[in-house]
Amino acid sequence: MDETIVDEKPRLGFIGVGWIGRNRLQAVAEQQIGDIRIVSDPNAGYAEEALQYAKGAKVVDSLSELIENDVDGVIIATPSALHASQSIDALAAGKAVFCQKPLGRDAAEVKAVVEKAQEKDVLLSVDFSYRFTNGIVALKSVLDSGELGDIYGVNLVFHNAYGPDKPWYFDPKLAGGGCVMDLGVHLVDLLVWLFNNPEVSDVNSQLFAKGKKIEDIVEQVEDYAVAQLLLNNSIAVQIACSWNLPAGVDAVIEVSIYGTNGGVSFKNVNGSFYDFSTERFHGTSREVISSPGDSWGGKAAMDWVAQLAEKGNKFNPEAFQYLKAAEILDKIYKRK
Ligand SMILES: NC(=O)c1ccc[n+]([C@@H]2O[C@H](COP(=O)([O-])OP(=O)(O)OC[C@H]3O[C@@H](n4cnc5c(N)ncnc54)[C@H](O)[C@@H]3O)[C@@H](O)[C@H]2O)c1
Repeated sequence: MDETIVDEKPRLGFIGVGWIGRNRLQAVAEQQIGDIRIVSDPNAGYAEEALQYAKGAKVVDSLSELIENDVDGVIIATPSALHASQSIDALAAGKAVFCQKPLGRDAAEVKAVVEKAQEKDVLLSVDFSYRFTNGIVALKSVLDSGELGDIYGVNLVFHNAYGPDKPWYFDPKLAGGGCVMDLGVHLVDLLVWLFNNPEVSDVNSQLFAKGKKIEDIVEQVEDYAVAQLLLNNSIAVQIACSWNLPAGVDAVIEVSIYGTNGGVSFKNVNGSFYDFSTERFHGTSREVISSPGDSWGGKAAMDWVAQLAEKGNKFNPEAFQYLKAAEILDKIYKRK
């Protein structure tokens, strides 16, 4: 018998139960797919709130204490600067890891995490939640069918007109970057995943902070960024993302792909962060192929729990896609 297979519900520990950590904990609890054993957050009030959904879970003070307990997997949702080191500590102890994005602040950090997961042969996933929306699943099936012909254009947009509300997001050391690290990371992940580890060249980008062009993010993080890149020497990709853009709506989110036989486009509806529609374009006409209505936020976490339960705590080489995406982000940031 394969001893890595978890025959009961996977036993889980949550580290960081702020906004997104509590949201994912609630999703796992409501679906009753995992046994939430441990919760840890320096904010005692947040830990208490999390216990509402995980009755009987133990609160501990640190990741090292969490790891000493009998858990199969660790779910990390702390500020971004902590992700790589906390993931490495959990993976080194043989625990499966589900980490919030970004997995690291640069490609070197991401590489260290993915290589640790490979070395220990344990499961590592990142919460790239948009992969799991019905709208992106519909877009991917059109793309994979080949019916768009030769693809030549991709347009990726993520404007969060509110911007983040916690101070650590604006500290380059704690966040690793601004809107590119926060929102562009999802777009670049989708690019790498949809186009199956493409070759990327000719990366050109401009970053801005408070309306002024900036050359690096050592002092202040970018709140507006545009980038152009070439995929597989044949596809032109445009990326734009921002915080606090006067966009006239809460959010503008788009993944559009154009080919010689038509297009497909995933967009948010009425400025919503949560509702998406996907349309198939034929010349000047269009048809809706996916409408709003799915509750997708916790699906990546549930997929990781399901992999752990059904396939076991084993390394999934698809984790190298996280490194590919981080290398593209380094180029957008013009890191040497
Ligand atoms: N996948 C997504 O779509 C998505 C969406 C939102 C946020 N995120 C990511 O999730 C992470 C958290 O974002 P948030 O908005 O929930 O932030 P948050 O500030 O609400 O939550 C972070 C939590 O971590 C806790 N924390 C800080 N240091 C800790 C430590 N050493 N050990 C344990 N807990 C610690 C804080 O007390 C806080 O409760 C960020 O990296 C963000 O990029 C991902």
